[in-house]
Amino acid sequence: MCGIIGHVGTDDALDTLLTGLENLEYRGYDSAGIAVQNGAGIAVQKRSGKVEELKNSIGDKHIEGNVGIGHTRWSTHGPPTDENAHPHTDGTEDVAVVHNGIIENYAELKDWLRARGHEFTSDTDTEVIPHLIQHHLDEGMESEAAFRRAIDELEGSYAVTAMLDGEHVLYAARKGSPLVVGVEDDEFFLASDVPAFLEYTDTVAYLEDGDVAIIDEAGVEFTDLAGDSISRDLETVEWDPEQAGKGEYDHFMLKEIHEQPTALAQAIEGRIDPTNGRIALEDFPPGTFDGVENVQLIACGTSYHAALYGSLALNQAGIRATALLANEYSVTAPPVDDDTLVIAVSQSGETADTLSALRQATAAGADTLTVTNVVGSTAAREADETLFIRAGPEIGVAATKTFSSQAVMLTLLAQRIAADSRGEPPADLQSLLPDLAQMPSQLEDLLATDDAAHIARQYQGSQSYFFIGRGLGYPVALEGALKFKEITYEHAEGFASGELKHGPLALVTPDTPVFAVFTGEEDEKTLKNAEEAQTRGAPVIAVCPEGHRAVEVADEHLEIPDTDDELAGLLANVQLQLVSYHAAELLDRPIDKPRNLAKSVTVE
Ligand code: F6R
Repeated sequence: MCGIIGHVGTDDALDTLLTGLENLEYRGYDSAGIAVQNGAGIAVQKRSGKVEELKNSIGDKHIEGNVGIGHTRWSTHGPPTDENAHPHTDGTEDVAVVHNGIIENYAELKDWLRARGHEFTSDTDTEVIPHLIQHHLDEGMESEAAFRRAIDELEGSYAVTAMLDGEHVLYAARKGSPLVVGVEDDEFFLASDVPAFLEYTDTVAYLEDGDVAIIDEAGVEFTDLAGDSISRDLETVEWDPEQAGKGEYDHFMLKEIHEQPTALAQAIEGRIDPTNGRIALEDFPPGTFDGVENVQLIACGTSYHAALYGSLALNQAGIRATALLANEYSVTAPPVDDDTLVIAVSQSGETADTLSALRQATAAGADTLTVTNVVGSTAAREADETLFIRAGPEIGVAATKTFSSQAVMLTLLAQRIAADSRGEPPADLQSLLPDLAQMPSQLEDLLATDDAAHIARQYQGSQSYFFIGRGLGYPVALEGALKFKEITYEHAEGFASGELKHGPLALVTPDTPVFAVFTGEEDEKTLKNAEEAQTRGAPVIAVCPEGHRAVEVADEHLEIPDTDDELAGLLANVQLQLVSYHAAELLDRPIDKPRNLAKSVTVE
């Protein structure tokens, strides 16, 4: 997730671009850059680091011109360096481009362009776009046609904005990544998100997937990719600029919960080979995990719950795996040998406990891999290999979308490790893949319901909240309880369903609601465990698909769409995230910044 800003009008572009980038910094903050038409070509200024560093690098330089584009980056390809920052050019600075999303076929396009003499200076997928445009200009196409042809050649998801030397025009295209145009008299703005230009205008028109917008001082023309005109309505947004980073949401946490369909689509994108259904983790050639017999996953907090989820997925795929708390690793590390892979799971890639365990595993001679959200993080730099979850920045202290993306990445990785080390994919892969592809749209449906808010209200003020689950439902129960206690400050505990009767049942009263997660793994037993609590007076809330037997037995239920057993827990987890959020909201807690906690814990 990155931020785009563009400006065409009669005013100078520079201030608008820099203000826009500051407003968008919550979308990504590892590098920033601008490009402005200055009458003598396109002036590009870009830097790794925050927008402040870009501003310092511009200093008193006079960058004049009323057409420009800017970008704040959240790295997905290549580390956060000056070279990888956007805008990217074709090398001659005749064409400048900013892009959000992932170009899946960039490696083939790069080879194709290289064979025709184009030279590249960055590791990004984006850099192929200005080169493609330039290639078509060199072939004799007009600017607009060259832009359309280049866009047509891209596979993947994108919001792209381009400017060409000597033209007072912005060309924009959208597929899978948002873009919105802002209009105020004869000033026009373009951005990935309304907050970028809300100081200047509240009159906007959203691009839909497949749209191309051509913007100059005279106005905006919307077309489809073929060039046929289409109409997009102008709307007035009713946000206050203060609130805007959160969009229409009251809290970043809620925004991030709602970003999960996009985050998951991004995590999966390009990682399943459509020709043979194999897991094509782009950085790992076939056979990378050949010989891995034993996996240790190390992590803390929510990431530990994702690691536990991953360890169970690995076990189910026939690979021995254990999830270990990173902060316990120094005293409890099991031995590692030649066939051991140690996977550090960390959203930030900066958690001191996890880094310390990773270093210990490296010193013991293990092969290491990190699953993280942050390109350039310490874990990504120190592990032998890295798999990025591509969830986009997470601002709320309570991890939500990163948990889902970690768990999905680990599920894919489990399939891939098993396929490499056994010589063929596990039998359940073919049933898993269609359900995985459906998951973003199923989540959209789930997020449109308000059942979780109703449950939060109904059980408000209870003494304690219990969460139970079996198999892959167990890490989800632990995560449900962690989220609940973290943001509501109420007592909550997660248990393996079968453990309830071995002690915790003593705590159960009519004042302790029990959330029971059903994932299709021995659900009859979980239902029996839930009934044991219900018999002692506890209200039971089943989290399960409609038509499940638990719906009849439980006092209430939260519905999840039908899916593969390996994914049901992740849908259930989103319902539980919503319950926690609404419960905390009723209690008026500072949801995005719970007391005593920090987003990244850099001490042991
Ligand atoms: C809870 C939460 C924490 C983190 C933990 C590890 O909502 O976010 O429990 O999961 O501090 O952080 P990372 O994943 O950055 O290593």
